[in-house]
Amino acid sequence: MQVKAFRWDGQKLWLLDQRKLPDLEEWIALEDHLQTAQAIKDMVVRGAPAIGCVSAYGFVLGVKKGEDPKIVYEVLRNTRPTAYNLFYALDRMMDAYKRGEDLEATAKAIEEEDYQANVKMAQIGNELIPKNARILTHCNTGALATAGFGTALGVIRQAHYSGKSIFVWVDETRPYLQGSRLTAWELLKEGIPHKIITDSTAGFLMKKGLVDCVIVGADRITKRGDVANKIGTYALSVLAKTHRIPFYVVAPSSTIDYSIESGEEILIEERSEEEVKRFKNCLFAPEGSPALHLAFDITPAENITAIITEKGIWKPT
Ligand code: MRU
Repeated sequence: MQVKAFRWDGQKLWLLDQRKLPDLEEWIALEDHLQTAQAIKDMVVRGAPAIGCVSAYGFVLGVKKGEDPKIVYEVLRNTRPTAYNLFYALDRMMDAYKRGEDLEATAKAIEEEDYQANVKMAQIGNELIPKNARILTHCNTGALATAGFGTALGVIRQAHYSGKSIFVWVDETRPYLQGSRLTAWELLKEGIPHKIITDSTAGFLMKKGLVDCVIVGADRITKRGDVANKIGTYALSVLAKTHRIPFYVVAPSSTIDYSIESGEEILIEERSEEEVKRFKNCLFAPEGSPALHLAFDITPAENITAIITEKGIWKPT
């Protein structure tokens, strides 16, 4: 059974609170752009494509309330700096506003296009997955991170549906545990065989020949094919290269930032050190020790075997 991260009811925007998963399935109703911006910052909703779709509906809510569209646009833009889909969606909403188009219809189109892109990428990506593949994935790139189906997890889902007897190694993905809390939750609901591993286990599994390919999503892709994704992705790409394991990135074309050439130009979100030291009120580091929390890293195009978008397979180098 596939899940949904958000739902538009024509008046309000509903978000499944991803901070509470897998313990609780709790929905929150948002009534304006300020609440939407806060929910994005606080990771109630996360995953680049889902953030994009939600910001589009947030724009609708703000403009409906009579707020200046330029302010609504800025408030929503200043939430998370790395995920390109946020900027893609908000620029489209602003263009629609300037042209006097129906904003709700534009937001719905952004959502529908993302869903369709996922379905298409899943079919294209599935062609690269061998039977009985043991696939390693990082973070959560599933229905929860998108308008539905998923990017990297969509390919995994499709491979499972097509009867390939795949198995998934799920990186827990410190510090937010998008892997163990969210990806494992989605896989379990679908009955896809998997095992959660700590992030540091991946290299040894590769060395032992237990990983056939790595599939991840992306938060932003540059013109030359450098990829910003969840912190830890770069290390996985180096490990995969060392062990000659295919390393695939799956993302819709709305994640590609054509204005920049190199990953060096991507702003990496730095989040609170508290998120590294504490989980759900449990402190597991000395209060006085500082911590660094980079939310994303950059994987150079050279480390990527192929990027799969809804338009086809792109070999960046
Ligand atoms: O901080 P998050 O959970 O928003 O980060 C999400 C990721 O890094 C995903 O891999 C990426 O957005 C692709 S989701 C289809």
